[in-house]
Amino acid sequence: MPQKFQQLKKAKRLKKSSQKWLLRQINDPFIERAKAEGWRSRAAFKIIEIDQKFKIFKKGKIVVDLGAAPGGWSQYAVQKVGEGNVIAIDLLPIDPIPGVKFFVQNFLSEDAAKKIISGLEGKCDILLSDMAANTMGDRQTDHLRIIALLEESLNLAEKILRQGGCFVGKIFQGGSSNEILKKLRKNFSTVKYFKPESSRKDSAETYLVASGFTPYDSEEVEEGRGELFRQLR
Ligand SMILES: C[S@@+](CC[C@H](N)C(=O)[O-])C[C@H]1O[C@@H](n2cnc3c(N)ncnc32)[C@H](O)[C@@H]1O
Repeated sequence: MPQKFQQLKKAKRLKKSSQKWLLRQINDPFIERAKAEGWRSRAAFKIIEIDQKFKIFKKGKIVVDLGAAPGGWSQYAVQKVGEGNVIAIDLLPIDPIPGVKFFVQNFLSEDAAKKIISGLEGKCDILLSDMAANTMGDRQTDHLRIIALLEESLNLAEKILRQGGCFVGKIFQGGSSNEILKKLRKNFSTVKYFKPESSRKDSAETYLVASGFTPYDSEEVEEGRGELFRQLR
């Protein structure tokens, strides 16, 4: 407790907004648990909860983790799938995680997809995106910025996911996600929203979990055999 006491004393000297942030940190049980259990971020609990619910990771699967810093999701993924099977990128550098191939990379830059594809040496089974652009405080703007990241992640999913693969992407509730949902439903057999307990209640953040990737072929649909053909495969 002495550390908490020091932090509370410090909070009293700060501006209101910083006080609020610090008090939230002090009272957040997931931050304490993450420290105690050796996770690099409280975000690790979100992917743990997602995995408990949807059973996405299995030994030997290949994982791509977009927006990986400081590394909680990658730490969990590599434990589940094994060393050498995780590729991760972020704008920010991270301390190395054994068995994870990491690139400092802006996912929205032109060469990002190429770099990921060359690191993969083939296709992947699970594409994760916990990317979040810095929030501006305006829900609508924040939503649009995250939608852009999500859309790009989905474009990448279409290129790199194996048949039957899985996609997990962070999204902020607040409209204009219909296009994303449409696209996901075309390409995946199951698409669900999931808000983990460890995702803050006051955050609009939630996750889309899509499984059973079947690449959508517009030619098949135009020829009138799309849906049936997809069901029969
Ligand atoms: C919520 S954090 C991810 C936490 C991570 N899943 C973990 O378990 O530690 C979101 C991350 O997205 C990254 N990010 C945002 N925009 C990005 C972009 N255009 N390219 C790459 N990373 C990005 C941020 O740098 C930040 O580290």
